[in-house]
Amino acid sequence: MIYFVTGGSRGIGASIVEEAVKLGHDVAFTYLTSEEGARQVVERAKAIRPEARCRSYRMQVKDRAEVEAVIDRVVADFETIHVVVNNAGISRDGLLMNMSDEEWDDVIATNLTGPFYVCRAVLPTLLAGRFGRIINISSVVAAGATGQANYSAAKAGLCGLTFSIAKEYGRKRITANVVVPGFFETDITRQGMPESLREFWRTYAPIYKGRRGELPELSAAINFLASEQAAFINGQEIRVTAGLDWTP
Ligand SMILES: NC(=O)c1ccc[n+]([C@@H]2O[C@H](COP(=O)([O-])OP(=O)(O)OC[C@H]3O[C@@H](n4cnc5c(N)ncnc54)[C@H](OP(=O)(O)O)[C@@H]3O)[C@@H](O)[C@H]2O)c1
Repeated sequence: MIYFVTGGSRGIGASIVEEAVKLGHDVAFTYLTSEEGARQVVERAKAIRPEARCRSYRMQVKDRAEVEAVIDRVVADFETIHVVVNNAGISRDGLLMNMSDEEWDDVIATNLTGPFYVCRAVLPTLLAGRFGRIINISSVVAAGATGQANYSAAKAGLCGLTFSIAKEYGRKRITANVVVPGFFETDITRQGMPESLREFWRTYAPIYKGRRGELPELSAAINFLASEQAAFINGQEIRVTAGLDWTP
């Protein structure tokens, strides 16, 4: 199958790309600033499976015209798209009282409006191919978290977007589901997660030694939802959280 993954240059997205390549899929993925990271992901994909088609594209997910142009180029290069993973995301944390318009707008535009642009632009290709898997990466924070009103609102909105797509296009063999990661060590958590929250995770995550998740454990859920075997799963959330689904 042919995957289109946003934000594949590092962190969770890079793992999604590499694990999909391991399973025999071809992958087009996007990056914004990490050109070198994207190059290394392509290199690793080629090392995993030399015959794999894996290419990176620079794309600002907040820019509708750029999203549409990149999806057109991917379809021209790969002929079609089967699996779409809206993974690119940011956080800009702060208490609501102090949150600037810019912090609010940036997170909503990147984490919610961007996936809307991607889904809208890719749907004609999925419909033409009479098959599609849309997988959107939300967060446990969708249920609310201190200092993350913008991120929480965007991730909850992303669930609403996904479940609506599931209802609109399920009859056309296009499924849309959400994957909810728990705590995975990437740049977003390295930079934004306070030590108290790490301690909370270690104390309360009902998993051996309070360990955090390994990226392939998350990618496995995405690859399952992308598979033929997951055809009857539509409009759902898979929570890869070790069972800790609450944030202070
Ligand atoms: N890590 C966790 O524990 C965790 C938990 C819950 C949910 N999530 C979600 O999982 C997703 C991936 O997170 P991560 O932990 O892998 O974060 P990350 O390491 O910070 O990576 C973020 C990715 O998004 C891309 N990106 C950021 N802003 C963009 C924009 N405006 N346009 C296009 N691409 C953009 C980045 O591209 P460049 O590097 O090229 O700039 C990068 O590839 C996010 O949606 C995040 O909210 C993560």
